[in-house]
Amino acid sequence: MAPHQVEEAEAVDAEKQPISRILFIVAMQTEALPLVEKFGLTEDSDSVFPKGVPWVRYHGTYKDLTIDLIRPGKDPNLGVDSVGTISASLITYASIQAFKPDLIINAGTAGGFKAKGASVGDVFLASEVAFHDRRIPIPVFDLYAVGLRPAFSSANLAKELKLKVGKLSTGDSLDMCPQDEASIIANDATVKDMEGAAVAYVADLFKVPVIFLKAVTDIIDGEKPTAEEFLQNLASVTAALELTSHQVVDFINGKSLSDL
Ligand code: ADE
Repeated sequence: MAPHQVEEAEAVDAEKQPISRILFIVAMQTEALPLVEKFGLTEDSDSVFPKGVPWVRYHGTYKDLTIDLIRPGKDPNLGVDSVGTISASLITYASIQAFKPDLIINAGTAGGFKAKGASVGDVFLASEVAFHDRRIPIPVFDLYAVGLRPAFSSANLAKELKLKVGKLSTGDSLDMCPQDEASIIANDATVKDMEGAAVAYVADLFKVPVIFLKAVTDIIDGEKPTAEEFLQNLASVTAALELTSHQVVDFINGKSLSDL
């Protein structure tokens, strides 16, 4: 067999093994803590990450699974959660190196478009992810900027849990300027977040399958100001995210990637 055929055969084999290690990437402490509690995870006091970074690891076993949940922690200067693509890329990279997960779940909140069927409290499984705030109008760089990537195919999961499925668009702003809006429409997105496409980029570098669970806190094409609606709904919507994440992990337990 040629080397690339051996690699392909190994990848097919891996898809048939039971999933044993899951990595949750979660941007905000408020989103993370209900999951930590639900899965009985404990915070790592002796960090595997480089000294000085604010990244926080929780880990434990749940049923047949080893679960690591990593959040980027508080900005060292400002004390707020380090949301957005830069921190998400860094923790995804470091966590893949440290934990060699079989599957990544990027779980968090998102804005949703009611015109595309989203309501506050819905938890979407993203079918694909792309950026909406990177524009390079030069052939091929334009595609690089958009960074479209499919999520790991999980039709059985969506069907069994009756999850809403939609496309996810990622940018580093909570609000939406006209240029971003045009890109989000071009991406055909139903939900908008601040990490997904960055997690997908890093996962793709290392060929780790990734799925995205995004709980809708605010309606982008609605009447209410985004920041206000987001803060108002954050606590209740994280409860919905916790419930769905729990159902997803229960579904995954004992299954292989090819069962998803
Ligand atoms: N997370 C929650 N709501 C969001 C929005 N409207 N845009 C980006 N990320 C979000």
